[in-house]
Amino acid sequence: MRLLLTLLLAIGLVPQPVQYTPQKSRECFREAVVSLEPWQQQEAYRLTISKKRVKTEALTPEGRFRAQKTLEQLRLLGDLPQGTIFDYPRFRHRGLMIDESRSFKGLDFLKKQIDAMALLKLNVLHLHLDDSAGWRIESEAFPDLTGKTAFRKGYTYHEWEAGKYKFTTADDPEGYGGYYTKEQLRELVLYAAARFITVIPEIEMPGHSMEVGYAYPEVLCVLPDGKTHTGAWDLCPGNEATYKLLEAVLEEVMDIFPSPFIHIGGDEATMKTWPQCINCARRMEEEGFTQVRQLQGYLMRRIEAFVRSHGRRIIGWDEILETGVPEDAVVQSWRGVEGGRKATQQGHDCIMSPNTHCYYNYYQDLIRKEPKAVGELVSLRFTYGFEPLSEGMDPVHLLGVQANLWTELISSPEHAEYMLYPRLFAMAETAWTPASAKNFKEFRGRARALLDVFRALGYNTFDMDTESGLARSGLQRFPPEGVPLPVDN
Ligand code: ACM
Ligand code: ZN
Repeated sequence: MRLLLTLLLAIGLVPQPVQYTPQKSRECFREAVVSLEPWQQQEAYRLTISKKRVKTEALTPEGRFRAQKTLEQLRLLGDLPQGTIFDYPRFRHRGLMIDESRSFKGLDFLKKQIDAMALLKLNVLHLHLDDSAGWRIESEAFPDLTGKTAFRKGYTYHEWEAGKYKFTTADDPEGYGGYYTKEQLRELVLYAAARFITVIPEIEMPGHSMEVGYAYPEVLCVLPDGKTHTGAWDLCPGNEATYKLLEAVLEEVMDIFPSPFIHIGGDEATMKTWPQCINCARRMEEEGFTQVRQLQGYLMRRIEAFVRSHGRRIIGWDEILETGVPEDAVVQSWRGVEGGRKATQQGHDCIMSPNTHCYYNYYQDLIRKEPKAVGELVSLRFTYGFEPLSEGMDPVHLLGVQANLWTELISSPEHAEYMLYPRLFAMAETAWTPASAKNFKEFRGRARALLDVFRALGYNTFDMDTESGLARSGLQRFPPEGVPLPVDN
């Protein structure tokens, strides 16, 4: 038998494909993908590029689309190397979350990011559609959600906070905000689907929901004197009115979004009003609960069953692990990686988006050189270094990875793009490329070239040429006060 030596090379593409070789392939495509998982086969493709023509092989339109995006990126970069690219994804969930509540960026912005995601072979856009700072999705069942909270006093989240969380209406010339109509969201879903991207809507509960109680106070806790606990950030899990609203809204949401997954939040409920509430007390007695936090588990499980009865699965932030994980839930690990590990050990699917590596609202460079951001340093190098599969995790249950862009400090579409690019390139490579084919030094060069393409396409990006030595070093923590930075800062 002839020994076929295959020369494997890196190619100027993000994400880096599984295999590029300057030779033509001798293997039939079906044989090449036979050992892959069915969801990998669905996206797998092979491109054979010669002087005269480009041949595309794939089993599905999705595979052909991924191939087309590879070609498009190579052409944009100005380099169509001859040879064979054989490619398929490492993970089936390759996501980006955008927070549209704290700042509202609009349909054109979302479509533009979908275009970028398609070029990077990302396939999930998770939209955080409601939070205390405003409800952003039309509801016919509960129209005051947008009618009373889609506009606020204060352009930035912090101006709104400083002004004591005041809402206003669309006709207020000083109001800030907006919301997506059902028609716009249907258009967005189609736009994304044409690019093989699923839009996963998030309806947050029971925390981060002050705006819901503002619009419909019957979902709030009731004190022993019969007065409603106005201004609370959590919904009342004891009250039937809460379920009536959530279920009606979720039905509308599921009607708009065909996604197999519906995100129902679950993070950071303060639970402050629950111990004083007569409806919560009654619910606890009925259910035999001894701790108020069990009410959160009750709400999440009840909503999960409702969503499941409509043939969908829920995703919840990793807090759902603490109060009895609903039967069919997917856990999204955000407080580090522990949630993901625990979830898979308990037989639950998980998505990894630890804030340490995947929160692109965190600083990407030195505090003094960057717009005000959050947390520690999530530099390009640091986020690139994220390995989603950690020790003790069951790989069968690891669906994939996701970058999250929270927008308390990000008011404009331009600023949002600045935080996303080039870090989203790193996420794309972590999500698609085999871990063994990743190499930061070599990635940095490819990312730098692609960043020029993004700028030419009209994206506002971070400037890699002015990146500090500290960010380039890949350190996570800013040195403590008084400790000198590396010399070139
Ligand atoms: C989160 O960042 N609170 C999910
Ligand atoms: Zn209550």
